[in-house]
Amino acid sequence: MVISGKELAAKLKAEMAEQVKTFPDKYGRVPHLVVILVGNDPGSQTYVRNKEKACDVVGFKHTTYRLPEETSGQEVLDRIVELNTDDTVDGILVQLPLPRHISETKVIETISKEKDVDGFHPLNTAALWQKRPNNTCIIPCTPMGIIKLLEEGGVEIAGKKAVVLGRSQIVGLPISKLLLDRNATVTICHSRTKDLPEVTRQADILVAAIGKAKFVTGDMVKEGAAVIDVGMDLDENGKLCGDVDFASVEPKASVITPVPGGVGPMTICCLMSNTIQCFLNSR
Ligand code: GUN
Repeated sequence: MVISGKELAAKLKAEMAEQVKTFPDKYGRVPHLVVILVGNDPGSQTYVRNKEKACDVVGFKHTTYRLPEETSGQEVLDRIVELNTDDTVDGILVQLPLPRHISETKVIETISKEKDVDGFHPLNTAALWQKRPNNTCIIPCTPMGIIKLLEEGGVEIAGKKAVVLGRSQIVGLPISKLLLDRNATVTICHSRTKDLPEVTRQADILVAAIGKAKFVTGDMVKEGAAVIDVGMDLDENGKLCGDVDFASVEPKASVITPVPGGVGPMTICCLMSNTIQCFLNSR
């Protein structure tokens, strides 16, 4: 079964739109998301446009600051500090990657944790890793979207072997923690993992987030595995594809997500729900 992230995201956004309609009466206004985009990275421009479209669908106010490539790090930090104290702003997202002269770490640390809709702030990361009763934190969008896709696909997580390819702060590490929290046995693989196909063939749930086009092939996948493709790569013809070679893996997988139309739309959908969470937390 191919799980459509596009359809699931559309359904969840429609539900959020209904909820947001009630906000002006209850709270006097709708949530407001601010996006900062520095430079001309074509991928980032597409992502930001899609985020703006999603805001329109769920009924948020949104503002995008498109800043030139040569903007200094200090200018970006100053802008964030201003937005942190602006009561009419609920969420702040700085699109990554940033130009090389700007420190991503400093930028992420400067966004107030209450407005950190990406869930990248060290205090949100710490809350994710320090399991305490009732701890609330903003969970990064892509990992949360993956969990929702697995739920939609009816994939049981508890007791299963999950293999995560990639150890990034944005995807690999947080999805590993979310799977662990749901009682999967998790293996995190990376470029130095030995006998990788041997490891991936053990997986009941395989999450590919390494950024290499069509890297996961059918011979690396167990019959009946659930395969989640986080890749946004270009194939040999310059066409968008994932980290999974869909043609050889799909026949073996019990469920699989496509690229495009899988994880990507769910990431944006979870950004919308994180913005609602930030908005409601500050009421
Ligand atoms: N670049 C790629 N993915 C993301 C994301 O989830 N958030 C931000 N801010 N930048 C990204």
